[in-house]
Amino acid sequence: MRSFASVGGTPYTVLRGEGPYVWDSEGRRYIDLVQSYGAVLLGHAHPGVVEAIAEAARCGTTFGAPTPGEVYLAEAICEAVVGCDQVRLVSSGTEAAMSAIRVARGFTGRDRIVKFAGCYHGHADALLAGSGSGVAMLGLPGSAGVPKGAVADTLVVPYNEVPTLDEKVACVIVEPVAANMGLVLPEPGFLEGLRQACDDAGALLVFDEVITGFRLGAGGASGVTGVVPDLWCFGKVIGGGLPVGAFGGRRDVLEVLAPGGPVYQAGTLSGNPLATAAGLAVLESVTPAHYEGLAKRVASFAHALAEAFSSQGIAVQVPVAGPLVGLFFSAQPVGGYEAARESASNGLYSRFFSAMLEGGVALAPGPYEAMFPGLAHSESDLDEVVSIAGEVAGELAGR
Ligand SMILES: Cc1ncc(COP(=O)(O)O)c(C=O)c1O
Repeated sequence: MRSFASVGGTPYTVLRGEGPYVWDSEGRRYIDLVQSYGAVLLGHAHPGVVEAIAEAARCGTTFGAPTPGEVYLAEAICEAVVGCDQVRLVSSGTEAAMSAIRVARGFTGRDRIVKFAGCYHGHADALLAGSGSGVAMLGLPGSAGVPKGAVADTLVVPYNEVPTLDEKVACVIVEPVAANMGLVLPEPGFLEGLRQACDDAGALLVFDEVITGFRLGAGGASGVTGVVPDLWCFGKVIGGGLPVGAFGGRRDVLEVLAPGGPVYQAGTLSGNPLATAAGLAVLESVTPAHYEGLAKRVASFAHALAEAFSSQGIAVQVPVAGPLVGLFFSAQPVGGYEAARESASNGLYSRFFSAMLEGGVALAPGPYEAMFPGLAHSESDLDEVVSIAGEVAGELAGR
């Protein structure tokens, strides 16, 4: 994801970050819309988060025994996410998705999993099929090193179409708002349809909220849409910029986990005190008013960005979900991976990316990621991005 292979040029090396900005090794400042691909919500080096990490470090970094921080973080997640009775902490989104799948298979006694083209659920073998994010950016169909057998029970289907499920399916895993093929919103009825299809087939529904969790709001996408899955995957924001993931769900489903049940999962550094301190510092400081304010700022930003292009005669789609913003160089709305790839094929994104970087704005170096304006981005930061984008749009239009 950090590679410049699809956009060309030389990657910048970040020496430090503060709030909405990062500085590279040559001292250049960028308005950063990458924000560690959504792991950072309060901005870089937020004093409250830094202090929480320092305080935790002074007491020891890992023990191999339970700590209060992991219990508090687990409780904070269960309190915020309706229907999520229990969670287990891990160290990355990849582990969260991999473990959720294992739980679903263990609970149902079935092997098959269904995922959607262009959704990314980390780099566990079984989920590296039809993947978005870096896999899409590098144009890979999957990954070498993944044995055929590892993906033999993974069915990849188009996003925004409710698949027909049979009694072989253990679970359907989905990004409830897809943010790894650019930003693709669920069409009305899609998530509800998945819930129904899973219920009818006796399969579990897994929401991968590694990006949307505690970003669309404290309740994530399930809170916003009201569609309640059986299992959730979390990551990014809940770690406050340190390595944390979590998977959770219905109590009767989570009960299959060892030591109570037969599904094994464990991790030496899972829920370690530094990461839980950072995550808690974020979750405890963000209020509903923060989420609302940010969504408003971002809605006007997205509108202004779209205007900056259309006034130059360049067709774009700028989808928005709460604070998440997408950008497709396409005349048509993008509802799935095929259309996302089509829009990425015109080469405009890489030209836009390079010119924005030159102008002092850091975007993801590939067309399949979202933008992550966060609580540290002021209106004037976002206005500056729009103004630079306006100039770049003029250059792209050849004016
Ligand atoms: C939706 C989703 N799931 C899972 C992952 C994997 O998380 P990690 O990179 O922490 O392993 C990502 C990472 O971008 C993601 O966006």
